[in-house]
Amino acid sequence: MTQELLRVTDLKTEFQRGDEKVYTVNGVSFSLREGETLGIVGESGSGKSVTVHSMLGLLQGAGKVSSGQAIFQNRVDLLQLRRKQLEDIRGRDIGVIFQDPMTSLNPTMRIGNQIMEGMLTHQYASRKKAFERTLDLLHEVGIPEPKARFRNFPFEFSGGMRQRVMIAMAIACEPQLLIADEPTTALDVTVQMQILALMQKLKQDRKMSVLMITHDFGVATNFCDRILVMYGGKVMEAASLDTFIRRPLHPYTIALKSSIIEVGDRHKKLQAIPGMAKVWNAPPHHCPFYERCTFATQQCLKEVPELTQVDDQEDHWLACHHVEEVLKSVG
Ligand SMILES: Nc1ncnc2c1ncn2[C@@H]1O[C@H](COP(=O)(O)OP(=O)(O)O)[C@@H](O)[C@H]1O
Ligand code: SF4
Ligand SMILES: [Mg+2]
Repeated sequence: MTQELLRVTDLKTEFQRGDEKVYTVNGVSFSLREGETLGIVGESGSGKSVTVHSMLGLLQGAGKVSSGQAIFQNRVDLLQLRRKQLEDIRGRDIGVIFQDPMTSLNPTMRIGNQIMEGMLTHQYASRKKAFERTLDLLHEVGIPEPKARFRNFPFEFSGGMRQRVMIAMAIACEPQLLIADEPTTALDVTVQMQILALMQKLKQDRKMSVLMITHDFGVATNFCDRILVMYGGKVMEAASLDTFIRRPLHPYTIALKSSIIEVGDRHKKLQAIPGMAKVWNAPPHHCPFYERCTFATQQCLKEVPELTQVDDQEDHWLACHHVEEVLKSVG
């Protein structure tokens, strides 16, 4: 049995917006084992990015973690670390890739130097070794002529090539955990597939754990071992990929899945789920999906459903009051 690498428990994050509070992450719990890839899926605004930003000390604006734990390597609570300690871990033990490489890359610095910088800051390698390793990394992430490309600036690269540079930066210090927040969302479909294939290879070669954040069901099902569905800042369903494909049971997951049609490897949006994700100005006091759910009853309006294991034999968790009814309807 592999070891647990990260355990997040009851994470809550809120933002102060003028006189209002916005409750964005409302008690998220999950764990990630060594070598495992966990996908966090959900529509835009469901609190996926804020969940990872909270763990990494990267909250923007007046964001504040109000409770929870994020135990990494069974030894440190990321939420309790000082900024400097977290910076030491970020980039060394935890590599991070974001959606838009342009905002993460320094436009005025040669890409080779940017890749080297992380290794030097974390004292991972001497200058000479970091230089050689940068050339190897550029080659490994599929950038031809590494020596010449080392001296290029980000604007001289296409979106896909920039994302390859970001990946090289993220894995430069051989992190145990890679967090990728919508790494392919800004790319066109062909390039998306290439980047996912590259990430797949890198994680297998290194036996790295990956936390993949995506609004794209297709990306999650192509790439992940286990999937967690978020909505309204809460976990709605969590299951292995197999269970997730074979028998998803949460009304939100089912609606999300039916809004997508698969054509070969392509995933096209058919119809959105009716209604809109809402902004919470108080902690949820009913099921977050209540307004949009076809199974909703008065109970769903009165009680927040807890995340509960479906049966002891299966790693399948659901937050819904009406699993029986859903089961009957899906057969
Ligand atoms: N900097 C911010 N200031 C205020 N509210 C924010 C901020 N960032 C996120 N939020 C709130 O958190 C919600 C969830 O955001 P996010 O985690 O980015 O969603 P996603 O699931 O698309 O990654 C947003 O809809 C917004 O209401
Ligand atoms: S708890 Fe009720 S509203 Fe929420 S998903 Fe289940 S049936 Fe729908
Ligand atoms: Mg996001």
